[in-house]
Amino acid sequence: MLRAVLLGPPGAGKGTQAVRIIEKYNVPHISTGDIFRKNIKEGTELGKKAQEYMNAGQLVPDELVVDLVKDRLLQDDCSNGFLLDGFPRTIFQAEQLDKFLEENGQKMDIVLNFNVKNETLMKRLTGRRICKSCGAGYHIVNIPPKQEGICDKCGGELEQRKDDTEETAANRIKVYDEQTAPLIGYYKESGALADFDGELPLDELFNKIVETIGE
Ligand code: AP5
Repeated sequence: MLRAVLLGPPGAGKGTQAVRIIEKYNVPHISTGDIFRKNIKEGTELGKKAQEYMNAGQLVPDELVVDLVKDRLLQDDCSNGFLLDGFPRTIFQAEQLDKFLEENGQKMDIVLNFNVKNETLMKRLTGRRICKSCGAGYHIVNIPPKQEGICDKCGGELEQRKDDTEETAANRIKVYDEQTAPLIGYYKESGALADFDGELPLDELFNKIVETIGE
């Protein structure tokens, strides 16, 4: 059983570590960013509403996010826990999540907070590439594919996320500092916060996470 949240600025490595954590602890990965991107791709009403905010590097309004996550957490595969990535992102979202967990007789086990310098974040975001077909993540310098522009796993084409341009990435970091960073204090107070040096190499960081959560 693991109920956890990944917290950290854009490019901190949340999605990258999530892939390893869910495999180890056998819980679903719930990324609100991925849910929105899927909806945008499929042209749903939700996708249409979320798109303009995301492309500008702004947060999608709370009312479009909170119920969506609550519904997701009620699905059967969350009975053994979950790993939330990109949610909560405002104090309001965190309060709503706590209320929901309490109503369901649950509580958050741990909030994994990744600390990374802004300079590193910008390099990571602008260098990130994602496979169009399977969604696998790469970085043109840190985690390059064997063949440029091609996914190692499925041979799909790699693309850059629309919000990973220099201007939008910088705005996302600013929005994080203003609206999401206050969650660090919120979870410190609740006793759930665990801090990590997000600049560590991937495996080293993952080992520290496992040491903290337990086997
Ligand atoms: P979302 O998809 O959640 O994006 P984000 O939080 O900005 O985070 P990223 O996915 O950019 O970064 P990450 O920390 O996962 O980094 P990654 O592991 O890929 O949200 C997108 C948008 O959706 C938001 O702007 C907002 O509009 C909306 N949204 C989503 N949730 C919302 C909510 N709850 N409320 C309102 N709006 C919401 O790593 C980045 C790169 O670095 C990769 O290339 C990777 O290979 C590399 N890397 C990672 N770790 C390391 C390492 N240790 N060493 C070297 N390189 C590394």
